[in-house]
Amino acid sequence: MAKRRADVGTLYKGSPGQWSWLAHRITGLAVTLFLFAHVVDTAVVGWGPDAYNRVTEVYHNWVVRVLELGLVAAVLYHAINGTKIMVFDFWPSTARYMKPISAASTVLFLGSMVPITWIMGREILNLALGWDL
Ligand code: HEM
Repeated sequence: MAKRRADVGTLYKGSPGQWSWLAHRITGLAVTLFLFAHVVDTAVVGWGPDAYNRVTEVYHNWVVRVLELGLVAAVLYHAINGTKIMVFDFWPSTARYMKPISAASTVLFLGSMVPITWIMGREILNLALGWDL
C-alpha cells in the first residue's frame, strides 16, 4: 500500500542554535585531535633535521592542504562561536539579542573564510592540477 504523506513524517531540521552547538563540539574535538598529531610531528625534530623533514614532507600535497583549510575553518569557527558563547555567559542580558548576534558571528565566519579559501585554495589548485594561479 502506498504511504500517505502523514505516514512519512517530516525531515528533522533542528534549529540554528542546535547546529551551532554541534559544530562547536565537532570543531573543538577536531582542533584537539590536530593538536595531538602536531605535538607528535614537532617532537620528531628530537631525532634531527632529516627525520623532521621526512615526516613533514607528508604535508606537502594537495590532500593535506585541503585538510589544512578545514583546520583553519574549524579554528576560526570555534574561536568566533566560542567568543559569542562567552558574551552570553558573561552578560546574560545579551541573550535577548541571540538571533542577531548569532547571525553576525555566522557572517563574520563566512566573510573571513572567503579570502582565506581564495588564498589557500589557489595553492591547493596549483598543487593538484599543476596550475600557476
Ligand atoms: C579563541 C579561541 C577559543 C575560544 C574563544 C574557545 C571557546 C570555547 C568555549 C566558550 C567553550 C565551551 C562551550 C560551551 O560551554 O558550550 C569551548 C569548548 C571547547 N573548546 Fe574551545 N575555544 C577556543 C580555542 C580552542 C582550541 C585551540 C581548542 C583545541 C586545541 C579548543 C577545544 C575545545 C574543546 C575540546 C571544547 C569542549 C567541546 C565540548 O564541550 O564538547 N578550543 N571553547
